[in-house]
Amino acid sequence: MSVSMTPEPTAAPAPAQGVPYPGESLEVHDYDVVVVGAGGAGLRAAIGAHEAGARTAIVCKSLLGKAHTVMAEGGIAASMANVYPEDNWRVHFRDTMRGGKMLNQWRMAQLHAQEAPDRVWELEEWGALFDRTPEGLISQRDFGGHAYARLAHVGDRTGLEMIRTLQQRAVSLGIDVYMECTISRLLKDGEAISGAVGYRRQSGQFVLFRAPAVVLATGGIGRSFKVTSNSWEYTGDGHSLTLWAGGSLVNMEFVQFHPTGMVWPPSVKGILVTESVRGDGGVLRNSEGRRFMFDYIPEFFRAETAESEEEGDRWYTDKRKNRRPPELLPRDEVARAINSEVKAGRGSPHGGVFLDIASRRDAEYIRKRLPSMYHQFKELAEVDITAEAMEVGPTCHYVMGGVEVDPDTQAAVGVPGLYAAGEVAGGMHGANRLGGNSLGDLLVFGKRAGDAAASYVSGLGGRPAVADADVHRVLHEALLPFDLAGASGEKKVENAYELQVELQETMHDLVGIIRTQSELDRALKEIAVLRGRVPDAAVRGGRVYNPGWHLAMDLHSMLTVSECIAKAALERRESRGGHTRDDYPKTDPEWGTLNLIVRWDGREVTLDRQPLPQMPADLAELFEEKH
Ligand code: FUM
Repeated sequence: MSVSMTPEPTAAPAPAQGVPYPGESLEVHDYDVVVVGAGGAGLRAAIGAHEAGARTAIVCKSLLGKAHTVMAEGGIAASMANVYPEDNWRVHFRDTMRGGKMLNQWRMAQLHAQEAPDRVWELEEWGALFDRTPEGLISQRDFGGHAYARLAHVGDRTGLEMIRTLQQRAVSLGIDVYMECTISRLLKDGEAISGAVGYRRQSGQFVLFRAPAVVLATGGIGRSFKVTSNSWEYTGDGHSLTLWAGGSLVNMEFVQFHPTGMVWPPSVKGILVTESVRGDGGVLRNSEGRRFMFDYIPEFFRAETAESEEEGDRWYTDKRKNRRPPELLPRDEVARAINSEVKAGRGSPHGGVFLDIASRRDAEYIRKRLPSMYHQFKELAEVDITAEAMEVGPTCHYVMGGVEVDPDTQAAVGVPGLYAAGEVAGGMHGANRLGGNSLGDLLVFGKRAGDAAASYVSGLGGRPAVADADVHRVLHEALLPFDLAGASGEKKVENAYELQVELQETMHDLVGIIRTQSELDRALKEIAVLRGRVPDAAVRGGRVYNPGWHLAMDLHSMLTVSECIAKAALERRESRGGHTRDDYPKTDPEWGTLNLIVRWDGREVTLDRQPLPQMPADLAELFEEKH
């Protein structure tokens, strides 16, 4: 096992011939399956591939144990029926599809609902310590859009426990881990994957992984937005790697703004305030003290949503669970309502609204159920949430769009040997993800991707070849920013940090919660200008731990995914889930039958419309009135 900054290469360092950088060397490793990312999906995929007999490595941008999954707080949605015996996978499937405004890849939603309970029990077998019901079963909590309390949780630190458990398992199995290593490009032999090239963040050393299968588990794209709950790694790497390798993305217009991020102080703006606060009884109020969500219940959810405080409060105790409080509407609805209150001048002092659990639950309950939130607000904002309301506002949280995959195997469409699991994969969540469905997705599809990648490799006759020229091109492009810094002359050079700020502002202001044609047009123009400036981003200093260099390279993927989002958002002329068009405010049934598929033509992003796959009759029946 080599959880090490300098694992032994499996082949002698190969001089990179023909590279215009004399003396450059490569660290080379051979595997069957390389998993990119060490969050929940990556770890579960690696365990699956390893257990299926594949020589497997995990390559992660961060340190092991630091993946963004550790920020997931509320829980894992799984219909284990521990709290409500009437819960089952069909209800979970239906909730997921409705939350996704019926644009979900139905087969993924079905597999997820069917297999999530097994993945939770498996985690428990591997050592995860879930909170318990009084009867000793795994406790399950309420979250928005779920008909029953079904989130298995560990206080409000579920992601952390999940990573701890999976990591321990992966380490004990002896899976190789390459930490602080960023993958820059995928390599192909003809149409099929043959490996990946990257660099070690600490030393700047280039690394070549020769492998017939790569599983992408790189998470999301939030760092392209100014306010986000996402950690620094979320620069859309897997999305872009797929496009550049000839694969396709689906649903990229759908970006989820979690309704409750911190808004104050500025240094922590965007950090997640878990939906568990609302799931455990917290309510949203405006500056007038009004519980404003009662004013925003959309027609689609009127039959399921409480219209009075008493009716809403019964949710927490009522076994029938048929009228949920309006704070637990799907996230897009709540985020838009907060946005409207702030715009109408009824916001909190720092541009959010108030989230109040202090007046509704006693201090002991709050500290026990929400220990992270208690500490987060105490330490970062000097707010005692057992006594005062929190100030919260929307934060870019999740991209529903991602790699177009086969639903059963997670194989990327059009690129043999490439797999994607977790947030980087598209389809599962349609137009909007329900809270708690991400952690289940990581486990269910991480396992499926790892299993399928191993089985793909075992069925291959030989190993694909890696062309030196392809590797050299990646090195050449990676080193260009240093050449610029050294170049004398009249050419104006750019600063990667300034480009990043400009991109984040563009995405926040013009491609955010509410969109219009004119703003999207402007965004695309600004993205094109930024794209033209990125090649002039110069980097000073050496390659050892040089974050300016890392950012100059990340900007390529950040701009690529931003273009995908803006183009798809411009094309979809309706409002649905995590895509709201002020100029097309209604949900249009015609668009309800279509996905947008994004590809890369070598210069820019292109779009195609694709009909949704037909849902089988036995599943379609679940949406009929009698249910
Ligand atoms: O609010 C939360 O705890 C987030 C959970 C999720 O995005 O699934």
